[in-house]
Amino acid sequence: MKIVILAGGSGTRLFPLSREKYPKQFIKLINHSSFFQETVKRFTSKFSLDDFIFSTKKYYTFMIKEQLEELKFKTDNVHFVLEPIGRNTAPAIALCAKYALDKMGVEEEEVLFVTPSDHFISPRDAMLRYFPLTEKLASQGYIVTFGIKPSHPETGYGYIKVGEQLEEGSFKVEKFTEKPDFKRAVEYVSSGEYFWNSGMFAFTIKTLKEEFQKYQPEIYSLIFENSYEEAVERFEELPDISIDYAIMENTDRAAVIPCDVVWSDIGSWDAVYEVFPKDEDCNVKKGNVITYDTKNSMIIEKGKRLIVTIGVEDLTVIGTRDVTLILKRGESQRVKEVVKLLKKDI
Ligand code: GDD
Ligand code: MG
Repeated sequence: MKIVILAGGSGTRLFPLSREKYPKQFIKLINHSSFFQETVKRFTSKFSLDDFIFSTKKYYTFMIKEQLEELKFKTDNVHFVLEPIGRNTAPAIALCAKYALDKMGVEEEEVLFVTPSDHFISPRDAMLRYFPLTEKLASQGYIVTFGIKPSHPETGYGYIKVGEQLEEGSFKVEKFTEKPDFKRAVEYVSSGEYFWNSGMFAFTIKTLKEEFQKYQPEIYSLIFENSYEEAVERFEELPDISIDYAIMENTDRAAVIPCDVVWSDIGSWDAVYEVFPKDEDCNVKKGNVITYDTKNSMIIEKGKRLIVTIGVEDLTVIGTRDVTLILKRGESQRVKEVVKLLKKDI
């Protein structure tokens, strides 16, 4: 099995820590570790760095190398699949499969485990316990997804409708719906028949190629019918589409393993508050912070100052070298409104 780490996304929902040129996967919120570094550590007890493929935009190469070196890895021979321009996850994943075939010399029966690098999962290496079942299902020709029990009608996720049981602990996917509108998300969650898609996938290269050929012939022929170098060169010609819309909504070969892990895609500051450890006053505190008579708040200082709070509740305060963000907890979806206004400057 090879581990494909997707680290090419951009996004500013954790502004002011994440910026256009410094996306969420690289920010260091877990002690001194970034989400990207935590993702790598999640698999290193079982896999060597040589089994990883790092999929990213050329622009982020330096950041990835630096963060791998901080983990004491030598980066000279790391498997990088570098996209000249972002075309979302479908072309990115297809290019990784091509790289594995042509540059790592693996067989089409090899299983690829694809994971985002900007998630929080606890315990850190919890996914490893699902690997034997994952290999089994993938080798039977399934595209394996990993389901999370939904807690609210989130519209930013994919929803997996559970079908008949397969191997113990797994089911066929009856329907996959990417990012439904709010009304449908409410229906899905209340029906109890759906899981959230965690964004991780596993399949053999053979299965992936067959599904691309069937549902995304344009991506299939540019990537799999050319040399790897030519595919990179012509990458810009590909449509901008995620694997969820390109393959998962169409395929009838998907399986789901329901996962009993703490999972968050850390899509907002409120989501960070949810998953991080809290003190006796239910505060999340990081960096040079003193709280006095403060409750249910999250105060993070990443710059060089001291933040002191007195007599406040339900606040989020994020300090960086050049920006301090102060907002009411529960309102962090609105960060994107501000980011839009500031777009030119960040
Ligand atoms: N290499 C590369 N190139 N990686 C990319 C690109 C790209 O062009 N675009 C995004 N990524 C990476 C992101 O960095 C992230 O790690 C992962 O791919 C997923 O991309 P997102 O853009 O974060 O996807 P999403 O959150 O909207 O939706 C996906 O994840 C949800 C769970 O968090 C879907 O799979 C949903 O179905 C799922 O519920
Ligand atoms: Mg995401």
